[in-house]
Amino acid sequence: MSAKEGKIRKLMEDAERDVKADDLKEAGEKLHQAIQMAENIGNEELVKQIWELVGKFTYNTKIHSVELTPIGTDGLILDIGGGGEGIIGKLNGKQVVAVDTSERELQETQNKALKVVMDATDLKFLPESFDVCTSFFSIMYIPNDKHLKVFKEAYRVLKKGGKFLMWDVRIPEKRGDYKAFLVRLKVRLPTEETEAGYGVKWKTQNIEHFKVLAQKSKFKIISEWSKSEIFHLEMAKA
Ligand SMILES: C[S@@+](CC[C@H](N)C(=O)[O-])C[C@H]1O[C@@H](n2cnc3c(N)ncnc32)[C@H](O)[C@@H]1O
Repeated sequence: MSAKEGKIRKLMEDAERDVKADDLKEAGEKLHQAIQMAENIGNEELVKQIWELVGKFTYNTKIHSVELTPIGTDGLILDIGGGGEGIIGKLNGKQVVAVDTSERELQETQNKALKVVMDATDLKFLPESFDVCTSFFSIMYIPNDKHLKVFKEAYRVLKKGGKFLMWDVRIPEKRGDYKAFLVRLKVRLPTEETEAGYGVKWKTQNIEHFKVLAQKSKFKIISEWSKSEIFHLEMAKA
């Protein structure tokens, strides 16, 4: 076994221990790292084994395709939870201000967005600072009882007529013994195609929950779609 393979196996063992201790965040981070390392050394068998391990405690959706084109605005875009793949920053580059509570996530993100460590439930921007606010599979990472605060903050920092665009996933009632839920995506951008998996400790949410929040925070729903488990809401500040 090579030194790198040894490291990957150690990460897998540690992650299994984390799952038993119900520390899914830690387990997820280790397995994410293990997959990246296994892909880097081109060991497909090991990648498969890591996914099998993930599948023992995580419900995986099928792979959903999402096709995106740059957001049509000349102004600034606030991207909530803009770490990770940083999809919105990849789409609109320097127009994007990506806020995320995790400095590490932001550091790993490769795009031209301005990256700021900030909590979406407590934005430090003045009212009416942005033309568009986005959340690409980020609100699922925020506890449900804080969602209304996020919507109210988005409303506050948007200019009049500004849009709040969100993409997220329906998470049903808990299935079997699964502890976590992972939505798998193929994201098609004009210049590249990325595979992404966004996973959280199991909780439930659906588009109706977010439509109620839109109403409570005074957003007007302009358009919406649901495709199987994933959905999109386009909201405007009147
Ligand atoms: C994995 S990303 C989701 C995908 C990301 N938007 C992309 O384009 O790939 C979700 C992010 O939300 C961040 N997050 C969680 N709670 C947050 C909060 N209260 N405010 C801002 N970001 C938060 C997490 O740190 C995580 O980086």
